[in-house]
Amino acid sequence: MPPGLIRIEEIAAYEGQEVTIRGWLYSRTDKGRLQFLRLRDGTGMVQAVVFKKDVPPDVFRAARSLTQESSLIVSGVVRADQRAPGIPGGYEIGVTDLQVVQRAEEYPIQLKEHGPDFLLDHRHLWIRSPRQWAILRVRATVIRAIRDWLDDHGFVNLDTPILTPAACEGTTTLFETDYFGEPAYLTQSGQLYNEATIAAFGRVYCFGPTFRAEKSKTRRHLTEFWMVEPEIAYCDLDELMEIEEQFVSYIVQRTLRERAAELKLLGRDTTPLERVVPPFPRISYDEALELLAQIREETEDEALRALLEIEWGDDFGSPHETELARRFDRPVFVYGYPTQAKAFYMEPWPGRPEVSKSVDLLAPEGYGEITGGSERISDLKLLEERLVEHNLPREAFEWYLDLRRYGSVPHSGFGLGVERTVAWICGIEHVRETIPFPRMLKRAYP
Ligand code: 4AD
Ligand code: MG
Repeated sequence: MPPGLIRIEEIAAYEGQEVTIRGWLYSRTDKGRLQFLRLRDGTGMVQAVVFKKDVPPDVFRAARSLTQESSLIVSGVVRADQRAPGIPGGYEIGVTDLQVVQRAEEYPIQLKEHGPDFLLDHRHLWIRSPRQWAILRVRATVIRAIRDWLDDHGFVNLDTPILTPAACEGTTTLFETDYFGEPAYLTQSGQLYNEATIAAFGRVYCFGPTFRAEKSKTRRHLTEFWMVEPEIAYCDLDELMEIEEQFVSYIVQRTLRERAAELKLLGRDTTPLERVVPPFPRISYDEALELLAQIREETEDEALRALLEIEWGDDFGSPHETELARRFDRPVFVYGYPTQAKAFYMEPWPGRPEVSKSVDLLAPEGYGEITGGSERISDLKLLEERLVEHNLPREAFEWYLDLRRYGSVPHSGFGLGVERTVAWICGIEHVRETIPFPRMLKRAYP
């Protein structure tokens, strides 16, 4: 390592010292004898000032010829300057030496607005831009918070297979693949396997990519997304909601603490996020329908009224979720969805078989569902009936039925979608920016 090599994020500790930074040129401003280089290194961005009289002529010439995204190594003295732009900002570098590693060809992404399709086609480059950098740093912190909370609360991480013989979340969104002449499916959820591992480990989670052949083009759907799925033995719906609210508020509060600079760069107003602390309000599906009816009565907006139309038994669409969540100042649990609107494995409400012991967590500010979970059916006969009702092939589920034959217990779990959570925390419009390489209905490139 060259002497004095530092990362931009630690620059404040090196005021007055000579340092070296290895990175890429984000932009350059040519002021004749002064060249202002904005240099990024993955940990931050700093302005490096090349003054003609301070460097050998060949160094100045090299600086002056630098193109956007050229890779370079810069040495110089760190100066404090309140006005200096950058991340963290407040410091700049008076350049003494500079080495061009590669002079970049003309960079396709200019420092101006581009359309989403163009940017998505160039996702491999787009991730370098400050906004994408900030979002993906938040994502990494969210993932770390997820793991830390679960690991610290007795959950054992046991990952579940990606190639599976059966559907978990309905047969309409399965990606089928050829498994040596037999069909196999990309996993929609690791839940069914979690239900096996809890009988060996008590509390478990799986965390990985999941796949849904979603034909819908919305700002909340990817065909490949990351989901963390905790599952808990001897746990009912109330206990599940307690776990979820602790978990989600930890993720949000830790991200606020550790990624303040990134959230600021994104222009995120963090006040609504600061309120994300337990307890979260809980309303039943029936109460949610009443609330929606009331909202429809009150609104003057004809189009909204039509969008919010719903009958008992229907699942919510995103307009319902948005309007419901708007009535609360923190995420809200909606529990007790109609059995017909949910997956096959959900425990019925005692005395009301048409209602399931299910719960979704809706994020405020229009973000809607970020977790989906339930208590699971623990009775063998009932589960067998449900497989028939849902037209699911019994052979593929024989092992799952075994779990109800040998030491079946009440148990519950949920799945939290990483991309939706990151979109909410960052306050951004579309989930496509929350994953390094998004997969959507019409996109599997790059
Ligand atoms: O509500 P879902 O479908 O629940 C399950 O898969 C359960 N088996 C989880 C469990 O109980 N272990 O999905 C859970 C979450 C949603 O709340 C949402 O955040 C996210 O996964 N999600 C998606 N995110 C992005 N794109 C999609 N197409 C998504 N589908 C679900
Ligand atoms: Mg759901």
